[in-house]
Amino acid sequence: MPIGDTQRRTLVLRVGKGQETGDAIERAAELLRQGGLVAFPTETVYGLGADATNMAAVEGIFRAKERPHSDPLIVHLADASELLTVAAEAPPAAWELAGRCWPGPLTLILPRSEAIPAVVAAGGPTVGVRVPSHPVARGLIRAAGVPVAAPSANRFTHTSPTTAEHVLADLDGRIDCLLDGGPCAVGVESTVLDLTVEPPRVLRPGAVTLEALRELLPGILGPAEASATTSRADMARAPGQMERHYAPQTRLVIFDAQGEAALAALRAEAEGAVNRGERVGALLADEEVDMLGGLALTVERLGSQRDLAEVSRRLYAALRALDAQGLDVILAHTFGTEGLGLAIWDRLRRAAGGEMRQVDAAAQADSHG
Ligand code: TXA
Ligand code: MG
Repeated sequence: MPIGDTQRRTLVLRVGKGQETGDAIERAAELLRQGGLVAFPTETVYGLGADATNMAAVEGIFRAKERPHSDPLIVHLADASELLTVAAEAPPAAWELAGRCWPGPLTLILPRSEAIPAVVAAGGPTVGVRVPSHPVARGLIRAAGVPVAAPSANRFTHTSPTTAEHVLADLDGRIDCLLDGGPCAVGVESTVLDLTVEPPRVLRPGAVTLEALRELLPGILGPAEASATTSRADMARAPGQMERHYAPQTRLVIFDAQGEAALAALRAEAEGAVNRGERVGALLADEEVDMLGGLALTVERLGSQRDLAEVSRRLYAALRALDAQGLDVILAHTFGTEGLGLAIWDRLRRAAGGEMRQVDAAAQADSHG
């Protein structure tokens, strides 16, 4: 780089426990108040924050990410008691959900307050709000004293970052500061629940599961039911839900199955690709690695298939790791659609551009028995 080059550098500050953490958070909060861009850890994924009430700062997020303005941002608060500073109104269900799920990985869509500029919400009348549970995120928002607009801290359509290294790979030099708080615990983005429609609908599944939300609001629609019954006009209410999202560069083949049937299909696909001279990667549960022994596969482990929290925690890092290897194809399978399985299913499907291979379990059983 020539001397005198004015390219901005990103200030990276480590945070954990102890005195320096307070100083680092205070410094990052000051940058936010001045209209800067600060990436920070949340329990789900790293966010790229700006003062949500500062239009110029929010514009900076779209520039740094190369994100289209049609994709709305989530506004983060330090405490549920601040809800009406960003939402014009909140129905009783919002307060009940806030009481049960905040701080945590649930985003509520509510009517937008005039304090939040339209650019945050893709010009629409609503706003997405959440109170993250990560202590660094809450400390930062509290110290900044402003609501913080923060999408995931990746370039648009790239895989969301679950470590500080992932953030730098996408945004180094494009943002003012990064708080490095280590890997994120949940690993997939928050559940997005639209409370401005009747019945309320889940726009994006996440760690607050559909089953858990239905205990409180029995009538809510899941993402599949929502899109099956969604008219064109309604689709405009669910912006930012494009199919190709969270996507690696490498071709991805996802089998929509689990267990024996998924492994048989995956093995057949891998053998074919290897025979064509292709380099093949696979995302596998720990229990599955030995079952595919003897194949020339580059494997990333997702943890035990009985622990979907572990699978979701590792999913994006594993995808990024395989994507960095210059493979011809990455193979993976889903983990059901119950509980956290639905969020994993949704992210795998989007990573593959909306396409998944169906596996006929009965036919598989026949051909092997
Ligand atoms: O876990 C998370 O939610 C992370 C962390 C950083 O909090 N954030 C995140 O933001 O995933 P982002 O920008 O990658 O995803 C935001 C998505 C939008 O693409 C859209 O689908 C939905 O949330 N969303 C936000 N505001 C909305 C609104 N007003 N109406 C409908 N959907 C909205
Ligand atoms: Mg995102």
